[in-house]
Amino acid sequence: MVDRGRIGSMPAATERDDESYLDFVQSLRGYTIGPLNAAADSRATAAMARYEERTGRLATSMEEIREVIDDVPVVATLNRFMRTSQEMMWQGVIATYRKRQDELLAELDRADRSGPGTVQWSPSFAFPAYFTAHDYHIQPGSYHHDPLAGYIYHYGTKVFFTGRNDHDEMHEAMIDSIPLPADGQVRRVLDIACSVGQATTALKKRFPEAEVWGIDAGAPMVRYAHKRAVEMGLEIHFRQALAEQTGFPDGAFDLAHSFLLFHEVPLAVGEQIARELCRVLRPGGVFAIHDLPTREPNVRAPLRDYLTYFNRDDNGEPYIVDFTFSDFTATLRRAGFSDVCREQRSGGLPRWIAIK
Ligand SMILES: C[S@@+](CC[C@H](N)C(=O)[O-])C[C@H]1O[C@@H](n2cnc3c(N)ncnc32)[C@H](O)[C@@H]1O
Repeated sequence: MVDRGRIGSMPAATERDDESYLDFVQSLRGYTIGPLNAAADSRATAAMARYEERTGRLATSMEEIREVIDDVPVVATLNRFMRTSQEMMWQGVIATYRKRQDELLAELDRADRSGPGTVQWSPSFAFPAYFTAHDYHIQPGSYHHDPLAGYIYHYGTKVFFTGRNDHDEMHEAMIDSIPLPADGQVRRVLDIACSVGQATTALKKRFPEAEVWGIDAGAPMVRYAHKRAVEMGLEIHFRQALAEQTGFPDGAFDLAHSFLLFHEVPLAVGEQIARELCRVLRPGGVFAIHDLPTREPNVRAPLRDYLTYFNRDDNGEPYIVDFTFSDFTATLRRAGFSDVCREQRSGGLPRWIAIK
């Protein structure tokens, strides 16, 4: 089989036909989240205004908002395009990598035994039920079941982010702007739910002298993350572990990070994770969290709120509604952080900075 090289740090599709199919899916996704979403947003806003004019009051409950928006035809088209482009994305990525599964598994086996850095995982890892009960964002086999899940997720997110993160641009921008602890000391760093390790490698690049760890519940994720770090020549330690039970000693880290974890766990688990991170940080240590926007008082975004339910019901995100409508700043304060603030990054996701 011809080696078709790489896109950034990820192996390219196995055949050119597969790559052009995935290029098409990426454009379809770009159209869906761009012009189609914009059209749905303006129609949904207009429908809400008509409803409020007719009833003479603001619609505040989600039941009402969903009822009004459900009747907007272009929103149904948006839902269909989002679901179908997501299905096509996973089918295309799985099909292309499956063609050379043996080669890719051998590559993971070799990397497991290579450095720099290390990886620890176990075939008998005990997964919590909330993690295995569904396929996250309808990725068949989810984060843990398919041994190629790391490859699949990485290419899937390339399509999902419409090529804007092919060289980890998004991750590097997030990591490079995290504030340091007040004393400037960063000797040990932890990336929780690191997935394929794009934030973890960005952390090692920013703090080359620090000991950097990445943990994730999925073995295929940490194995792929380690392989990728080895290929990049970066010494990082990856371990299959739960964020709510990391196994690290008290006060072990100066800086910790998470990207897109908290909306993927039940609220009670999110509380445990926040407490665990407060425990493993040293006094003055910083926990930087990038995640989906929680609802803010006085900000009206009816289509965005509506799509949160789409993600729960049609996109394998069972915990997203609870997270979106929770007060995550309060969660972090309850966990013991002394100083917590939420920032809005320009053009990006919100970020919470929690200082122990
Ligand atoms: C959306 S991905 C995270 C993306 C990643 N942080 C990045 O920088 O691109 C969610 C990850 O969280 C992991 N995960 C979910 N629940 C977890 C838990 N309780 N502990 C550790 N990892 C978890 C999943 O295996 C998955 O790899």
